[in-house]
Amino acid sequence: MAEAEKTHLAPTPRWLPLLGGMFSSTTCGLLLYAWSVFIKPLNQTFGWSRAEIAMAYGICILIFALVSYPAGRLSDRYGARIIVFLGGIILGIGFFLAGFTDSKAWLYVSYGVIAGIGGGMIYLPPIATAPKWWPDRRAFATGCAVVGLGLGSFVMGPLATAMIETLGWRYVFWYVGIAMGIMAILSSLTLGNPPKGWSPRGWDPPKPHAGGSTLGDYTFAESIRTIQFWLLYISYFSASFGGLVVIGHIAGHGLDSGLTAMQAGWAVSALAGCNAVTRIVTGLFVDRLGTRALFLSYFGIQAGALLLLYPAGSNYWQLWMAAAVIGWNYGGIFTLFPATCLAFFGGKSQGTNYGLLFTAFGLAGFAGPYAGGFLKDVTGTYFVPFALSAGMVSISVFLSLIIKPPVRTALQGGSDRRDKFF
Ligand code: 2OP
Repeated sequence: MAEAEKTHLAPTPRWLPLLGGMFSSTTCGLLLYAWSVFIKPLNQTFGWSRAEIAMAYGICILIFALVSYPAGRLSDRYGARIIVFLGGIILGIGFFLAGFTDSKAWLYVSYGVIAGIGGGMIYLPPIATAPKWWPDRRAFATGCAVVGLGLGSFVMGPLATAMIETLGWRYVFWYVGIAMGIMAILSSLTLGNPPKGWSPRGWDPPKPHAGGSTLGDYTFAESIRTIQFWLLYISYFSASFGGLVVIGHIAGHGLDSGLTAMQAGWAVSALAGCNAVTRIVTGLFVDRLGTRALFLSYFGIQAGALLLLYPAGSNYWQLWMAAAVIGWNYGGIFTLFPATCLAFFGGKSQGTNYGLLFTAFGLAGFAGPYAGGFLKDVTGTYFVPFALSAGMVSISVFLSLIIKPPVRTALQGGSDRRDKFF
């Protein structure tokens, strides 16, 4: 009895790390997904081209994703709390410093490099920590740890636009930089690991499969020696590429097709709102249905929606619908991939494993919006970039059909097949 009580006892309620994950990921959403609002004011102040301004965003997203790998590794080792705490300080300083921009180099270093490092340190650790508190609802917990990317962008678009109009763009960096630093630091305090041997009351860990041996979680070295890891990597790259081309260009597409700025702006909001909600709803579905069915339906629908996006541009409600569907399918991948990584390789090295997997997103973030802009410039139409995006997402559809969970065989015989979620 004493033993049973001990294992269900934790110093804090388990919804606290969920809340911490929501808030800390919101700072990443403030950092990343509303960048386009700065394009015009920076262009007006300094005369820099769109490509020059976009470069700051490209650097930020690349650094953000590359840092997530060491951040996940350090978090597996030292716990999420300290990494997110330090990340919050770095993110706040970098974003704040961007308010003093007077040259491209300054912007690239403050926003791109420093804030990008801070954001990457904040993003990954809660994804590895939240499911430890929710072994019974792991994908739901993962969704909560990334929902802020959608929420942050949903809030930041209108907030930054209003602040730019009333105070000027520098104040957005100053005020939001301070706010995001405080938010991330407070969130970090909630991100401890559960005590050893703890499990939620009323939950029994699943029994090993009949006839199989429990070989335990994969180490990082074992995970990256599986073909599944690298197929997931390619799939992540392709799926992110498709969504990121749209995020970078949907407003431009609406304006080019003759919509008003307000109508194009609502398409951005529809995408951002669905990008947020889907992360939690997808987690709830994954805990019941597993990931394969969702991968297939999201990627299949996404490929179709990307093909329809070009003709949808001239009619505002069609564009909003397409944006909403694309936002939904895009946001869902940030719950689906970590949940699959966790289901395939276990929780022990989730920070490191998913940190490496997430670099696929960074490469897509660097290449996707740029390729979209380049193809639009060369062909004069968004049809080609959107068709390319549909083609890329089709690769993910195909991979979802062929990827099977890794099977681990012990020398003594017996196997540990991780097929619960796929
Ligand atoms: C996400 O949306 C950072 O883009 C990544 O979760």
